[in-house]
Amino acid sequence: MSKTPCTIRLARGGDIQQIAVMSRCLIEVGLRGWTWHPTRIARALRGRETCVLVAEAEERFAGFAITEFGDTRAHLSLFAVQPAYQRRGIGMAMIEWIMESALTAGVTQIDVEMRSNNFAARSFYEALGFLPTGQVAGYYQNIETAVRMQRRLGSMATTPEQ
Ligand SMILES: CC(C)(COP(=O)(O)OP(=O)(O)OC[C@H]1O[C@@H](n2cnc3c(N)ncnc32)[C@H](O)[C@@H]1OP(=O)(O)O)[C@@H](O)C(=O)NCCC(=O)NCCS
Repeated sequence: MSKTPCTIRLARGGDIQQIAVMSRCLIEVGLRGWTWHPTRIARALRGRETCVLVAEAEERFAGFAITEFGDTRAHLSLFAVQPAYQRRGIGMAMIEWIMESALTAGVTQIDVEMRSNNFAARSFYEALGFLPTGQVAGYYQNIETAVRMQRRLGSMATTPEQ
């Protein structure tokens, strides 16, 4: 699939519903309940240490990323690209934006978890230089195991740090 140019911007109030619905349908699918509901997304938008990004392609909402920034670590909390826009480089463009901002802010690593059966996400993060650092049993509602991955920033030497 050819790459599609996208614009990356900070999320606004009008994006909340779209982000929450994508989370339910693409990330929390099959899990009990809806943890990233609109109220929680709205809280993330207001969070001083949280960055909520939106990617637009062909003037449509194509994807989003929610990242929590600490002093030296950032945590990618929620991340998805609309199925119609997957494999067009939009996820990669958002992660590159986040990595550049993190480096500027003095952050040296980015952590992320994904459901252990999410092989697409795992391949995606591997393609971006993330390395697996372990598994967390029951991470998702005490039912599903998470795979944890980490990307060290500032060099291509990506030795994971626990
Ligand atoms: C994971 C996800 C965000 C990737 O976004 P994307 O925009 O499709 O990714 P990109 O097009 O930037 O892919 C970059 C590279 O990652 C790898 N990759 C991405 N999706 C892949 C897949 N389904 N299978 C294998 N490799 C994949 C490839 O190496 C790809 O490069 P290529 O297309 O030139 O081969 C997207 O599949 C998604 O939203 N999935 C559902 C939600 C989800 O799982 N979120 C992550 C939870 S942590």
